[in-house]
Amino acid sequence: MITKRSSKGRRITDQTGAVLRLKRELTLERAKREVLQGVSRIPLEAQSLDRLYDHYLGVILKLTRTKAGSILLLDEVTKDLIFVASKGKGSEGLVGKHLPLGEGIAGWVIRTGHSYFTVDAEHDRMIRKEFGPEIGVAPQNRLCVPLKIARRVLGVVEVLNKKDRRPFQREDLYLLDALAVQVATVIENTRLFKKYDSKVRKLKTLKEISRLLNSTLDEKEVKRRAMEAATRLMEAEVGSLLLIDDATHELYFEVELGKRGERVKEIRLKIGEGIAGWVAKTGEPVIVADAQKDPRFNRKADEKSSFVTRNMICVPIKIKGKIIGVLQAINKLGTQPFSKWDLEEFQSLADQVAIALENAHLYKEMKETFLGTAEALGDAIEAKDVYTAGHTRRVLSYSTMMGKHLGLRAAELESLKLTALLHDIGKIGVDDHILRKPGKLNESEKKKMEEHTVIGPRIVENIKQMHHVIPGIRHHHEKYNGTGQPHGLKGDEIPLIARIIAVADCFDAMTTDRPYRKGLPIQTALEELRKLSGTQFDGKVVEAFLRAYRANELNETLMARPSSSTA
Ligand SMILES: [Fe+2]
Ligand SMILES: [Fe+2]
Repeated sequence: MITKRSSKGRRITDQTGAVLRLKRELTLERAKREVLQGVSRIPLEAQSLDRLYDHYLGVILKLTRTKAGSILLLDEVTKDLIFVASKGKGSEGLVGKHLPLGEGIAGWVIRTGHSYFTVDAEHDRMIRKEFGPEIGVAPQNRLCVPLKIARRVLGVVEVLNKKDRRPFQREDLYLLDALAVQVATVIENTRLFKKYDSKVRKLKTLKEISRLLNSTLDEKEVKRRAMEAATRLMEAEVGSLLLIDDATHELYFEVELGKRGERVKEIRLKIGEGIAGWVAKTGEPVIVADAQKDPRFNRKADEKSSFVTRNMICVPIKIKGKIIGVLQAINKLGTQPFSKWDLEEFQSLADQVAIALENAHLYKEMKETFLGTAEALGDAIEAKDVYTAGHTRRVLSYSTMMGKHLGLRAAELESLKLTALLHDIGKIGVDDHILRKPGKLNESEKKKMEEHTVIGPRIVENIKQMHHVIPGIRHHHEKYNGTGQPHGLKGDEIPLIARIIAVADCFDAMTTDRPYRKGLPIQTALEELRKLSGTQFDGKVVEAFLRAYRANELNETLMARPSSSTA
């Protein structure tokens, strides 16, 4: 400004300066008010950070009277700059894009912490020209200021080209600097609030997930819940669990993605192969911000499932220090990348999964040991009663088929199987000369033989885990019309499991040879079952047996009878 060297002139200049200062202060006050008012209008929900950035950029463009601009923030993990808001013709596609920190004006502003101002962007070598055409704006004038909290730079805000085509003035820089201070403060506070809020919510989710994981001992269910939990906790598109096959030293997928999942299930990765293989080999958790650019990334799963992996978080699952698999979450939802916080929470989840998997595995082993013991007991009876070789296994098989046709639930079927295995356990207490008598039993011998339904429950009653099989053992010689023994129970008074075993037991007795008689042909035995339906046997159980027979489900067991039996 040109001023005359007169007292009147100085006064005019002073007055003009005061007006300008006042005007600048007013503009700044207005700017602060707009920024703060905007914050109160935006609800603090998980997704609202994006709206917040968008709002700030809108205010900045309005107050600086510019056509286009962006807010870029530093990514804690990749150390890249990410476009979190962008406005101007065709600029929407920029949001979410990464910009390597070393590049362009933004990189310089981040490194130095100083503002950048140019009125001739066309000839400025520091400007990355590619963003001009991308956003449909040829930058002539450009302002870029750091978003700082104390000396820490969070990111930058940059604006391009004033609406009135005039170059930027120093005034614009002051205004943008002042706005940036306000915006940085609110961004930092909001981010911190959100981080803690999200942390609290995620800890709650993690607690709920741990309870869910540990409320089942079924291995398959633990795996399914682990994958669901990975997706939910990480707010990702998909979660997957890969376990190590000790025999082949490979990782295999446990996934549930419908048809896609079935195809992925066929894939096996060597330890060290792919990102999951790398985690399994090193035991290190990892965040991959851009999977397609990571040299460790293996495309097999994407190709098989027509899925596109953008980013990934992957942690090891360890039991007592040994890596047994890895847990992955793929493609974070929203615009925020996976963070260091996510990594901590995901590792906690993987530790919970490890405990749940180990418990389920131990339970499975215990169950197998228990069933093995029951089978050994069943074999002990067979060793004593040589004339009924294979009887127990056949009764087990017939009973299981009937149970399925009768719609028994999984737990009921398990109970039926164990009861079938042990139904004649009481024969251990019957004298060998009766069990092995080659001829028909007399009345007193019959009475002794019948006692096996009373002796059996006494043998297993001391084993708590076997209490549920006692009713089936005790009543498998009851008859539906009430003429059986030991208690003469009638109809539905007889436990269903005992009614099922009664049919299997009798059919096997009819169709196998005894020393004093040949076994009946199968068709004759089936006819016999039909005849006794409703008197000796429960009609619906006989019907279930006939259905299983017609469906050829009994063939294998029928073939397994001793070779001398009648076909
Ligand atoms: Fe029996
Ligand atoms: Fe039997």
